[in-house]
Amino acid sequence: MEYVEKSIDLSDKERKIHVSKGSRREWTTYDEWSYDIKVNAICKLRIDIEEDIWNELSDLVTQLDYENFYNSLRVCNWPICDATNNLKDKFKIFESDVERYVIVGQYGNNHVYPHIDPVRSTTVYIPLLPRGEDYTPLELYYNNTIVGTPSNDNPCAYAWNTKIPHSVFQFGKDRYNAQITFNLPYKEFFWKYMSVFDV
Ligand SMILES: [Fe+2]
Repeated sequence: MEYVEKSIDLSDKERKIHVSKGSRREWTTYDEWSYDIKVNAICKLRIDIEEDIWNELSDLVTQLDYENFYNSLRVCNWPICDATNNLKDKFKIFESDVERYVIVGQYGNNHVYPHIDPVRSTTVYIPLLPRGEDYTPLELYYNNTIVGTPSNDNPCAYAWNTKIPHSVFQFGKDRYNAQITFNLPYKEFFWKYMSVFDV
């Protein structure tokens, strides 16, 4: 078949717009979350976690036995140890509403595609491994924005709304986080525990 090739002419402005982002995180809103995002989708909590607790639990989670979920996730209950006793104490404020304390693992390159959680409504989420940029963002598709968590550089906890479509494209290393799950809708959770939300 004969054909004539037609290349695309791009302006300088278009060339700048279409430059490669390099990673999924760069497509997400991760540095500054609006009040609307914090009230409805995800917010950092004002609960400090010490480095040694974070490191201790991170070492432990790679050695646990997990149940497989959906071919991509592995889940078990928090093991009983000093680190988890310490964390349960820190998050005691939520105790009366807790559904489960779980560790969630995800194999590297086994992505969790966009979905809405069928059961729980809110989760408190503590990223563990991998560290830094290798911990790809938890992506929430909220109100025409892609909201993502920042790189995993310091121990911290978020509360987020599992009824908003979300996904995790975990490239490379296996991923682990500690979670506390709740059946309380996020908005109710937010207003009830606003004193520990970083708004
Ligand atoms: Fe989910």
